[in-house]
Amino acid sequence: MSTQTSRPRVWVSRPLFDDILDRLREYFDIEVEERDRDWTREQMAQKLRDKAGAILGVADPVDAGVIAQTPLLRAIANRGVGYNNLDIAALKKAGIVATNTPGVLDETTADFAWALMLATARRVTEAERFLRAGQWQGMSFHILLGGDVYGKTLGIFGMGRIGQAIARRAAGFRMPVIYHNRSRLDVATEVDCKAEYVGREELLARADFLVLALPMTAQTRHAIGAAELASMKRDAYLINIARGGVVDDAALIAALKEKRIAGAGLDVFEREPIVPADMLALDNVVLTPHIGSASLATRRAMASLAVDNLIAALGCGPNAGRPPNII
Ligand code: DGY
Repeated sequence: MSTQTSRPRVWVSRPLFDDILDRLREYFDIEVEERDRDWTREQMAQKLRDKAGAILGVADPVDAGVIAQTPLLRAIANRGVGYNNLDIAALKKAGIVATNTPGVLDETTADFAWALMLATARRVTEAERFLRAGQWQGMSFHILLGGDVYGKTLGIFGMGRIGQAIARRAAGFRMPVIYHNRSRLDVATEVDCKAEYVGREELLARADFLVLALPMTAQTRHAIGAAELASMKRDAYLINIARGGVVDDAALIAALKEKRIAGAGLDVFEREPIVPADMLALDNVVLTPHIGSASLATRRAMASLAVDNLIAALGCGPNAGRPPNII
């Protein structure tokens, strides 16, 4: 008679650093996907049916319909800070613990917001396309004239940890910082960030660079649409490192086509990985494939945190039952 007891099963929905996954293998039987793909709800339910836990990407959906088909599921560790892929209320109701990876990606994502600000204003990707296409005929005084960054007003919409990290970098560029947030920051944090709290309308009207660092929720969907774009300065730039749905992509395309703002730097889109053809055709927009947190060190830290969260949430390891980052 076999005395072997079966170990809980865990699903890892996308490839992840194998040496980090070894820590999961100590406790669980794991099934790891070998390539990135987008999962439908039906496929999620099928994959999770016999699993106690999962490490998911921020686009892998879990809602009440999925949960109804996953009786063994006890914990989900999102491998990212955003969790708009998860129906948190439904998970709580079903007693399933959900975690995310806050704290480890703030600085890297803030760096990337600045990369997009600089690239957009100084037309870096457009300039490279021009050079690679063999169009550079020699030095021209009027070539690819862009906007300045130094000294301009930085407006930040959403002043959580990432927004604050973006603000702190502005001192070197001698940029006044204004921000709008659901709730105003305490004075010490405002002083540390050298940031002035303003109303939403004032933020839109004054910012030369409007950087979005909001979470995606029912309240923030299309926070930037036609009306908001119309109240921005004509020479302002919009930067989105948050979530695609925060911006109405169709309204933004119209504003960019009609040069109602100077340009946009976008790392996220409404229907990722689909980017509208009209957007791809525009030169006054810098487009990147959701890589805000994608430095090697940060992605390893996120993977590591997700693994620690899941081990603890499933009652194992040094923090058994006390996962550090419950949502
Ligand atoms: C996050 O953590 O939410 C990022 O968008 C994933 O890279």
